[in-house]
Amino acid sequence: MENPFYITGIIPERYFCDREKETDWLVRTLRNKANVLLTSPRRMGKTQLIRHVFNQPVIKDNIITFYTDIFATTSLHEMVLFLSKEIYSKLVPKGKTALDRFLAFLRSLSGSFGYNPVTGSPSFDVKLGDIHTPELTLEEVFMYLEQADDPCIFAIDEFQQISRYPEKNVEALLRSHIQKMNNCQFIFAGSNRHTLENMFNAPSRPFYNSTEQLYLDRIPKKAYTDFILEQFSMNRRQIDALAASFLYDLFEGHTYYVHNVLHNAFAFVPPEKTIDENDILAVLNDILEEKGRAYSSMMNRLNYQQKETLIAIAKEKKARGVTSVAFVRKHALKSPSSVQYAISQLLDEQILTYEDTGKSKTYSVADRFLEKWICKVY
Ligand SMILES: Nc1ncnc2c1ncn2[C@@H]1O[C@H](COP(=O)(O)OP(=O)(O)OP(=O)(O)O)[C@@H](O)[C@H]1O
Ligand SMILES: [Mg+2]
Repeated sequence: MENPFYITGIIPERYFCDREKETDWLVRTLRNKANVLLTSPRRMGKTQLIRHVFNQPVIKDNIITFYTDIFATTSLHEMVLFLSKEIYSKLVPKGKTALDRFLAFLRSLSGSFGYNPVTGSPSFDVKLGDIHTPELTLEEVFMYLEQADDPCIFAIDEFQQISRYPEKNVEALLRSHIQKMNNCQFIFAGSNRHTLENMFNAPSRPFYNSTEQLYLDRIPKKAYTDFILEQFSMNRRQIDALAASFLYDLFEGHTYYVHNVLHNAFAFVPPEKTIDENDILAVLNDILEEKGRAYSSMMNRLNYQQKETLIAIAKEKKARGVTSVAFVRKHALKSPSSVQYAISQLLDEQILTYEDTGKSKTYSVADRFLEKWICKVY
């Protein structure tokens, strides 16, 4: 029996939950030829939403869609490589004419990809060292997209990564190309809200005011719990409505965590049993146990101040006024300044995350399983 709760890979449409409003908005906005900035907390469902949007008939049947995740890239060279490789792999199934057209544009890379001289089959063998003039290759890639036979959408996931490239002018360079394009829309996605919002909303930055923006929040509770009950009953399995609601609240509807527990509950609770709150907690406990080793070694890499600050924030769940004397006293921490310093390091490592709540910031542990594990162990 297939597990309807996917936790890796591409989710088949029948197992994709809600996101109706967001999907409509994205389809409409992209068809109106606007570029989009899509942000959310980590693991809320950005990447799956992009795939889902690309699968909508009005998009799928009329537009060539490209997707690349640049999280692993650390320079403009690599970004150019990722963009070209994605275009290449989308064009190969379309046949020789389509691929030849792309090759004709990419003169700066001629020789490193195209067709295998022996077998004649398409091959992409570009090495980073082959990209001698990344700015020129980038221009060629964009020229191709602008003159492709069909309209295009290019999603660049983990876009905040470009702010870490050593080249200084990447934002301005990309912006200058993108603003001239009519045939290709872009989705810039990422979870590092701080970096992305600065990049797109600060008047001094090249991308200022250049996109429509969507902040992806949790799936509403009713839609999510209805989906859960429906998936179980379609498989002739039972889950208490109360247990579904309990699970949603346990993780505030945070998709990845809710889905992980459901996946394991579906797989491991005996099929004849109606899943209740105790089963949910038992499944969660097994997950925490399994992750314990990795979490312990992560904790071992932290210094003492970072560790005690992280534990204090995990216990608060949503920590406000973290540099107040009251907070420092309550958790027996060293001093407000040491807490502030530890927090900035933990944010850099993406172990913590924050929300702006009016005057002050509210901090929490980014990985909700880690938060629960810390509360259990410390
Ligand atoms: N609409 C959905 N329906 C069903 N499951 C979903 C949905 N959205 C997200 N998920 C679940 O949450 C997981 C994480 O989703 P996804 O990878 O899209 O998040 P993300 O925001 O891109 O995360 P990251 O910040 O790590 O890149 C998926 O693997 C899947 O298990
Ligand atoms: Mg993602």
